Amino acid sequence: MKALILSGGYGTRLRPLTYSQQKQLIPVANKPVLFYAIEDVIEAGIHEIGIIVGPNKEQVIETVKSVDWDANIEFIYQGEPKGLAHAILVARDYLGNDDFVMYLGDNILREGIVRHKEHFEKSDYDASILLCEVPNPQQFGVAELSEDGKTIKRLIEKPKHPPSNLALVGIYFFRPIIHEAVRHIKPSWRNELEITDAIQWLIDNGYKVGWTKVTGWWKDTGKPEDLLEANRLVLDEIEREIKVETRAKIIGRVKIEEGAKIDENTIIKGPAVIGRNAVIRNAYIGPYTSVGNNVVIEDTEVEDSIIMDGSVIIGAGRIIESIIGKEVRIVRGDGHPLGRRLIVGDKSQLTL
Ligand code: DAU
Repeated sequence: MKALILSGGYGTRLRPLTYSQQKQLIPVANKPVLFYAIEDVIEAGIHEIGIIVGPNKEQVIETVKSVDWDANIEFIYQGEPKGLAHAILVARDYLGNDDFVMYLGDNILREGIVRHKEHFEKSDYDASILLCEVPNPQQFGVAELSEDGKTIKRLIEKPKHPPSNLALVGIYFFRPIIHEAVRHIKPSWRNELEITDAIQWLIDNGYKVGWTKVTGWWKDTGKPEDLLEANRLVLDEIEREIKVETRAKIIGRVKIEEGAKIDENTIIKGPAVIGRNAVIRNAYIGPYTSVGNNVVIEDTEVEDSIIMDGSVIIGAGRIIESIIGKEVRIVRGDGHPLGRRLIVGDKSQLTL
């Protein structure tokens, strides 16, 4: 079996972060979201991985190549994001006649895919999807089950009136017949070749589509609040690991990477992660905070937030529920006239 991991698309719902950064590279607990997908696939014993890249392809390639993965990874250029089924069309040669798992690179699934892969491999299904009960099915693809509940009867993309609360997780198992399906479908109202339409083509043409239920948590990190929630969920499961000498007060499950300098006037309350060479002075880092590499935090309280590499935050009061991009400067001003001096990029959000 091969894997096709999608790391294209524009990530418009995550602007301004995605103006400079491909959305699947945004860190959750200091690790790019995309890496969770690659790890799940390798854990399931798949070592042939094709990664779909789009607008910021160099960034994705460079970041993935910075790690020595136990897999052969090829990058497949999609160009314009014309839909999830379009990604399968452009990967046709790479996938050949192998079964494959398609994994959306902005999804994080706590339990991984081992059980789901085994279920598909043992079955005679032509495709198998993962479903998860959600309170807001309107925002996803939604499944309607057959009468016996064993297979899928109908799939609808982001329905106004969902037939169930079973959302399609962005992980799909396919036999090669899917290539015929993606060739038959037409672009949707949003001008994309939808994977839900391709799977519906399978059902309508007498192929069997099975499903497995997700039992742990699942997060599609498409929006800022989803990223913060994914960060909380991942941090909730970290172990305490402190790789530096420090006299700071460190409470609970906190992970501190090498080279970090944390002074004795600082309190860190886990779960939290502090990246390499971060400098933290006279600060409070509260639960559910991820501080990236080379970040400086001084005279500031930060809680429930993601602070990306190289940012500097000094005398900034109390920061909560925030996502701060790379190399951002938030510093106390002390010159006259008093006032906030802001240089803020397009579509930024500040709540003062
Ligand atoms: O996350 C689960 C949902 O993912 C499913 O419930 C939906 O049925 C499915 O259509 C999909 O919906 P989204 O609206 O979240 O898809 P999005 O456009 O955000 O794309 C998902 C990922 O695939 C994202 O990481 C970007 C990447 N992508 C997207 C498109 C359209 C590509 O690499 N190429 C593309 O052409």
